[in-house]
Amino acid sequence: MCVIEERPVIETQRLTLRAPAKADVDRVAAFCVDHDVARMTTRMPAPYTRGHAEDFVARCGTQDRARDNTFAIELADEGLIGVIGLFTTPEDRVELGYWIGRPYWGRGYATEATRSALEWARSAWRKRYVVAGHFADNEASGRVLVKAGFLYTGVVEHKPSIARGEPAATRMMVWLA
Ligand SMILES: CC(C)(COP(=O)(O)OP(=O)(O)OC[C@H]1O[C@@H](n2cnc3c(N)ncnc32)[C@H](O)[C@@H]1OP(=O)(O)O)[C@@H](O)C(=O)NCCC(=O)NCCS
Repeated sequence: MCVIEERPVIETQRLTLRAPAKADVDRVAAFCVDHDVARMTTRMPAPYTRGHAEDFVARCGTQDRARDNTFAIELADEGLIGVIGLFTTPEDRVELGYWIGRPYWGRGYATEATRSALEWARSAWRKRYVVAGHFADNEASGRVLVKAGFLYTGVVEHKPSIARGEPAATRMMVWLA
């Protein structure tokens, strides 16, 4: 068993990954109301409300950090620009998920945050592998995962998406520490 810090902070070249806080609620709500963010995720509600953002931040504060770790992705002078999380699934696998607010797309932030979160999972959390999946129509996320070192397993699962209201073909990937 690995004991991890109660509220770990990860510094990257341009970003700080830290626990989400109440002060983040407005920015989370503003970015997640964007359907093009929500529809690429399995669990994000749509339409997304401020109440959903409040619940999200509150849930992060009660996480069992031996199993789940959600980080706000913070850019200096801007604040929260996205979220990245590592979660233990019911099958006891660690799964990665993330989103970046639309104004910040295309600048390498998701890739930078993912690489650092994986390095943290390897070194601080002692995980040997991490799984991830992206919807087949989300090529940008596929690029992020490939750039961060994930490999396609060849498995395609049909995962639910709350925002789509129906399951979507999901290309499964794995990263080995
Ligand atoms: C997917 C997402 C996280 C990418 O964030 P980002 O910070 O823009 O990602 P990066 O800049 O690190 O890398 C994006 C890559 O995708 C590529 N890309 C962007 N749009 C693309 C598209 N429509 N088709 C193919 N590739 C695309 C970029 O060119 C870049 O690859 P490159 O460096 O090889 O050129 C962001 O768009 C997002 O949050 N989307 C909604 C939520 C989501 O998809 N979450 C992930 C669920 S699995």
